[in-house]
Amino acid sequence: MIQYKRHLVTAALPYANGPLHVGHLCGAYLPADVYVRFQRLMGKDILYICGSDEHGAAITMRALREGKTPREIIDAYHDLFKETFRRIGISFDYYHRTSEILHHQTSQDMFRELHRKGAFVELETEQYFDVAAGQFLADRYLTGTCPKCSNPGAYGDQCEQCGSSLNPVDLIEPKSVLTGEKPELRKTRHWYLPLDQHESWLKPWLEEGTLDGHYHHDPAQWKNHVLGQCRSWIEGGLQARAMTRDLDWGVDVPAELPGAEGKKLYVWMDAPIGYISATRQWALEHGKNWEDYWKDPECELIQFIGKDNIVFHCIIFPAILRAHGGLNLPSNVPANQFMNLEGEKISTSRNWAVWVHEFMDELPGYEDSLRYYLIKHMPEQKDSEFTWKGFQDAHNNELVNNLSNFVHRVLSLTHKFYDGRIPDFDPDQGFEGLAGMDLGGFHDVELIFLFDELQEMADHLRSFDFRASLAKLMEICSFGNQLLQLNEPWKLQKEDPDTVKVVMNLCLHYVTALSIAMEPFLPFAADRLRRMLGLESLKGANELNDALDKIAEGEYLLEPGHPIAAANYLFSRIEDDLIQRQSDKLHGGAAAQPASAGQESFNAPPLKPVISYDDFSKLDLRTARITAAEKVPKADKLLRLEIDLGFEKRTVVSGIAEHYTPEEIVGRSVLILANLAPRQLRGIESNGMILMAENGEGKLTFVSATAETQPGAEVK
Ligand code: 2FM
Ligand code: ZN
Repeated sequence: MIQYKRHLVTAALPYANGPLHVGHLCGAYLPADVYVRFQRLMGKDILYICGSDEHGAAITMRALREGKTPREIIDAYHDLFKETFRRIGISFDYYHRTSEILHHQTSQDMFRELHRKGAFVELETEQYFDVAAGQFLADRYLTGTCPKCSNPGAYGDQCEQCGSSLNPVDLIEPKSVLTGEKPELRKTRHWYLPLDQHESWLKPWLEEGTLDGHYHHDPAQWKNHVLGQCRSWIEGGLQARAMTRDLDWGVDVPAELPGAEGKKLYVWMDAPIGYISATRQWALEHGKNWEDYWKDPECELIQFIGKDNIVFHCIIFPAILRAHGGLNLPSNVPANQFMNLEGEKISTSRNWAVWVHEFMDELPGYEDSLRYYLIKHMPEQKDSEFTWKGFQDAHNNELVNNLSNFVHRVLSLTHKFYDGRIPDFDPDQGFEGLAGMDLGGFHDVELIFLFDELQEMADHLRSFDFRASLAKLMEICSFGNQLLQLNEPWKLQKEDPDTVKVVMNLCLHYVTALSIAMEPFLPFAADRLRRMLGLESLKGANELNDALDKIAEGEYLLEPGHPIAAANYLFSRIEDDLIQRQSDKLHGGAAAQPASAGQESFNAPPLKPVISYDDFSKLDLRTARITAAEKVPKADKLLRLEIDLGFEKRTVVSGIAEHYTPEEIVGRSVLILANLAPRQLRGIESNGMILMAENGEGKLTFVSATAETQPGAEVK
């Protein structure tokens, strides 16, 4: 074991070509976040970086499909990612992007150094060329039938059905994605990384955790499925892999190299270097030295990814780092498998997904519940499953009935019995009556149970076993509830207040320990609980470590006499209709369903007479966000809404009170008619109108504006 001075944690840079869904979140960003938040609470020097992956065919193809420039695509998704990660509590120290100049320079410097060291071989090969489009068809620009599994939709570089990495010339019936034409083979020169030459050190590094005969890491700590994939790559024979492409979007091959014109770095060469450029940018802005994180062997590198990225992080990027020299290799790559949704693979193209930003728009306040459910079902060793019913059950049965209930009972009894102050107890009294523990005294009880549970939770976190660590956290709540149930302080207080003091003090210590230990999983609720306890928000500065020390020493986490704030519920129940709406949305409302799916159309009202474009252009339609909502007194149908248009705030009175409660619409993105003349409704001036769709039964639903559009954007 190495005692590291510092830790660098990375999560796969997401392609800036589409929004994030729950599968992305629980694949890399959430486990890394839980891990980093935990290590900060243990006082570790740890840096968590990520950024948007903005090059490669994934971006240019999307731009092409939408008739936009790649720049427009990456800007929109980069902003959406940053905001989505912030709202769901992913606590990056730095979120960078690969279109930044610093990243281009860093990648080019790496390329130059590899070139200088003779790490590349230059090869001329034949590649498919689309004559009509006048370009080579790299990677995703080429489709055809997979030679291994016959999937007709395989790409030039990969088949997503069987997971094989493909050589474009092996595709059966290749077609250009740009024109649909059969391409022709033409000669082109590229720089290749001869992975076969790296096999001699990769094998012992992966299998035994040694590098040049010295200990590097413990391979027993790596997940079996990660090692299994690496083994099969190596057994299949590593081959030279091109590190450049004929493309016009990406990082330029350094211009001074002969033949560089028109060539870009392969996106899988530049993207992982994005981890280095993100560290550099963070270091620049914080007066630190990036080399302390990449060149100092006393810094540990841990890379969180999804299983489709394993070869790039365990073979190709390590080969790049090693060929460059002087840069740290990861000590672990705790890749997750995939999360399915309601029995099927998550699919962007079929819109079979739970989009994280939409979840937060439509279920504001349930961010922690989503984190909880995704950790509970994290695909750590095998694929897992998201179901809306499972989400509702986990929230109601575990967060509400167990955690929230325990906290509320303890805090409200503290108000009732002790005027909201932490009770002390007499160490010589009160233990005889204590039920549920056959232990001698307070310190023993706390030491043996709470301390052990927290240590076990910590051990699971250290070994990337997030499901088990969450289960431990919930065991502490269950135990607290049992303690209350067995001792029934609400009944016992009259006849044996000494025992009640012991029980209550113990429970308050559990609640306080929970307010720290739950932060990695449920950061928003942890903060609410800290406020209820009259404690400061956590800063991620050794608080869990301190608490463990105190418990071990038999010291109080909360001093007797400390005043707590009002007791509130940390979580409230999720009712069926909220879940039903999400499930309906997933299965496609009438509008979203293709006609062939057999959805009967309701008796829609006839179309209105045609209007001119000029008439239409008089309407000022905007996106906006609802920031507050309340019922209008004595008006069954009206809600008074506060709307944020980005550049101004307004009040709108909307006739939707029979369809939505105020709580469920705050935070939603909506479309509004912004230049409707003001109207007085029940004495309130309404400025604008929210656009709603009405179905055959008179039910109104929002016409969604996705949160990726800035409030105030014009709708045309
Ligand atoms: O699979 C993906 O979404 C890639 N954009 C991950 C890149 S990870 C890294 F190497 F940057
Ligand atoms: Zn295949």
